Amino acid sequence: MDRPTLFDFHGVSMIKQFTDSWEEVQNFKARPDDIVIVSYPKSGTTWTCYLMDLLFFGKTCPERLLSIPLQERVPFLEISRTSPTPEYLQKGTDLLDQLTTTPRLIKTHLPVQFLPKSFWEQNSTIIYVARNAKDTAVSYYHFCRMNYCMPEPADWSTFLQNYKEGKVSYGSWYDHVSGWWEMKRSYSKLHYMFYEDLSEDTGREMDQLCSFLGLSLSAEEKENILTRVKFDNMKTNKMTNFSTIHHMDQTVSPFMRKGKVGDWKNLFTVSQNEKFDEDCKQKLKNPTLQFRYD
Ligand code: A3P
Repeated sequence: MDRPTLFDFHGVSMIKQFTDSWEEVQNFKARPDDIVIVSYPKSGTTWTCYLMDLLFFGKTCPERLLSIPLQERVPFLEISRTSPTPEYLQKGTDLLDQLTTTPRLIKTHLPVQFLPKSFWEQNSTIIYVARNAKDTAVSYYHFCRMNYCMPEPADWSTFLQNYKEGKVSYGSWYDHVSGWWEMKRSYSKLHYMFYEDLSEDTGREMDQLCSFLGLSLSAEEKENILTRVKFDNMKTNKMTNFSTIHHMDQTVSPFMRKGKVGDWKNLFTVSQNEKFDEDCKQKLKNPTLQFRYD
């Protein structure tokens, strides 16, 4: 399968798979009760999507957990038909139009300036999840190796350089996390969370999410969700581990790879780490995000 190439799309590196349906995406009709789950790629999107799906539908629609892959329960807004494999023959916008459940849970990796305006007009709820820049880079590298719909990553050191320069799909990690953080200041229906916090105490993060969303759970429901969203359980669950997607070669690297904080230490050399830190100092001015970046 030919790998896609990156191109400059209004100042952000993108691939066709995420821009080919641009008109439909930009004209997407949001609803006030829509919930958009936003992240830079490889930041714990799937984890958050599953958690959200369980919070809203775990009790009322348990059958959907067993029979519908997560990527259909929480459609990927900007994915287009360009994907050469059958499982993505449906555009994200088409899948969303067909959803009959409420609220619609919508996944996107769009940088803040690209989110369709209808979501702002409808005052839709937004959950943003960020992950430290270094683990995200490592996870992204392995993802590009195993996913034939992503550009060829070359070797680690080339990939890392490209990542620092924003020459990967969805552009610069710095711009993404900072852009959405800035939006949080003025848009009260945005909840900004961190992968590292989820990893440290999933129950606490879930409580915060519930309080933001106005949901309340019994102790038993909470326990049940916490068990389901554990890394090992998601890894063996065909509905959450992306094993139904054929353009991902999980023998190269599994989608549910390690699920750890600090795995970057196994791949970054001392020199790569020093240069990365220097670069970050220049690009990331926000103290909260700076504190979180490695
Ligand atoms: P690693 O490659 O570091 O293992 P995304 O869903 O945004 O593509 O992010 C994928 C990353 O989130 C992968 O990281 C994956 O293993 C991790 N992940 C997914 N579910 C997780 C869970 N339940 N607990 C911890 N990490 C999880």
